[in-house]
Amino acid sequence: MTVLSLLVLISGGGSNLRALLEACRSADYPAHVIAVGADTDAPGLAHAEEFGVPTFTVIPSSFENRAAWGEELLEQIERWQPDLVVCAGFMRILPPGVVAALTPRLINTHPALLPAFPGAHAVRDALAAGAQVTGVTVHVIDEGVDTGPVIVQREVAVRPGDTEHTLHERIKTVERELLVQAVLDIATARVDLEETAAR
Ligand code: GRF
Repeated sequence: MTVLSLLVLISGGGSNLRALLEACRSADYPAHVIAVGADTDAPGLAHAEEFGVPTFTVIPSSFENRAAWGEELLEQIERWQPDLVVCAGFMRILPPGVVAALTPRLINTHPALLPAFPGAHAVRDALAAGAQVTGVTVHVIDEGVDTGPVIVQREVAVRPGDTEHTLHERIKTVERELLVQAVLDIATARVDLEETAAR
């Protein structure tokens, strides 16, 4: 069984990263996290350290422009030669050169049913729009913002009285499951990323 090497990019608490790290502990799960990158000193890096996974940070403010930041980020990623790059709560838009070099072995998880509610405030936007149902999308990253071809989606009901926090926490419970399953499907070729990207 070939084991898929994953490089995960985060910006925050990293609960999706942790779900992947825990799934990879099982000998039956054909993937392993070889490195974790962040755009800041993200709290989620502690999960990687706990699991003995190397980490790196590429901080935008250290670079004169986005292109230079993107070049360094790509260089750091390519050093590991991952089979798949997973953006899991990575709150930066990847410059086109980075996307072009990595896609379609470059996926993202988003807390809404794309194309509804793209962008950095998906949960807040769904609430503000009065949506009764929202959800999670795992998709291939393309040059757009949350516009790449969908790999899998799952609905999450909005409950009366939901706040952005309560709804997002419920979404993240589903998201972690969906992401672990999506990576498994890619690792076992049930999902063909080239085919997905060609849709
Ligand atoms: C996730 O819901 C992700 O889709 C969104 O931010 C959240 C990150 O959560 N972009 P975590 O850092 O994985 O806990």
